Amino acid sequence: KYKSLNLKEDMEKTLPPSILNLLKLIGLYGNELGINVYVVGGFVRDLLLAIRSKLNGAKKSIPYDIDVVVEGDGLLFGKYVAKQLRAKYVEHPKFHTCSIFYRNGENKIIRIDIATARTEYYEEAGELPKVELSTIKKDLYRRDFSINAMAIKLNSGSFGMLLDFFNCRKDLEEGRIRILYPLSFIEDPTRILRAIRFEQRFGFEIEPNTLSKLEEAVANGYLEKVTGMRIREELEKILEEPEPMKAIKRMGKMKIIFHLFERTYYSPTMEKDLEKLFDVKNYFKNNLSNYLNKVRLFHLVLYVLLQYTPEESLKKITARYGLPKDFIKNLMQVKNVYNEISNELKNKEKISKLSYYYEKTNGFQNEQLIFLAVKLPEELLGKYYEYLRKIEKLKLSITGEDLLKKGYEGVQIKTKLEEIKKKLLNGEIQPGEEKYLI
Ligand code: CTP
Repeated sequence: KYKSLNLKEDMEKTLPPSILNLLKLIGLYGNELGINVYVVGGFVRDLLLAIRSKLNGAKKSIPYDIDVVVEGDGLLFGKYVAKQLRAKYVEHPKFHTCSIFYRNGENKIIRIDIATARTEYYEEAGELPKVELSTIKKDLYRRDFSINAMAIKLNSGSFGMLLDFFNCRKDLEEGRIRILYPLSFIEDPTRILRAIRFEQRFGFEIEPNTLSKLEEAVANGYLEKVTGMRIREELEKILEEPEPMKAIKRMGKMKIIFHLFERTYYSPTMEKDLEKLFDVKNYFKNNLSNYLNKVRLFHLVLYVLLQYTPEESLKKITARYGLPKDFIKNLMQVKNVYNEISNELKNKEKISKLSYYYEKTNGFQNEQLIFLAVKLPEELLGKYYEYLRKIEKLKLSITGEDLLKKGYEGVQIKTKLEEIKKKLLNGEIQPGEEKYLI
């Protein structure tokens, strides 16, 4: 038994009209086909949070991804909805689900994922459910956490009815991350990362029993059983959070980092480097934004995390997580440059010239340039940034063609052009004076 709650009015007050109308239409189509239709999961969670924060006068954004579950044939229903809405229909036969892409009045694409209520779930060995569960109830029961296991009925006539079978709303209100069945993390170990992501995103707490099940799954090597791609997806989602450092710290302390990346130890030094990475990235965003072009935060974070990991392990890790072939080589290059620079710190004259940084980093990818900023001693950072600013705008007023005409050939041309570039960087010549050097 659960307290029945109708959210229709709250939804009408909180949701943008385009989403609200769409949900009502989906419910109506359910009636037309004679099947029960629900919106479930993250949408319901975020809607309840939005309703609450609206009561508190705060504004919260409403998600544009809608997860729908039907008690009936999901694909049939999806095709029907797409036809009625004149929306794009995409089927995922492997998962027996489909997606509909609907363009609303404001030209925003709303994605609706549709699934058939699923019933398989796990319980402690030998134990059977005590009562016969209705289909939507079973579907909700096999989900990751209570906060993600509520549904709202959409059918006309019962539109807005909240289905909360497992005291989910109470957990949401009191800020608890709780699994619904004991084998949840074993069945799907990516939930270990999801628990931490939701905990840190909402400032919630993983409740004690869930935490001990989580720790047990980590210690028993269940993270190692998941494909690298699925882990990577969850890690990337963590990095998309507004404050990824919170979750990273938590994963470090709980030895999750170690179980994700063999022979990789999360230490206070590592943590400082990671914090620095986010500061540096922020600096680039505000001052050197061109260097963030094509930069993948996942790679940057892994440069930092894997900087002390032995090479044989790095090979396995890069294969597991689908990192590019040159990842290890690029990492080593930055480490070498950083070591060279550390050994030359006493040579003040040398390190004060902008050409020095050109020599060290010429040919680096943006990710390498940013990682080097993380590793560089604080006193060099100003010069390094000055170099990056200057080299970005630097344009020679002569070309290889000009040198060729003057009789330079082959590698001489490249050498000469670099020499001129360095003189410009150091201010030894002014732009336009290049021609006097050839
Ligand atoms: N889900 C699950 N186990 C997983 C992944 C997802 O039970 N390993 C269920 C949850 O009910 C979740 C829903 O599928 O709410 C949708 O998953 P997803 O889109 O990944 O997450 P959201 O909850 O929508 O979260 P986010 O706000 O991060 O998109």
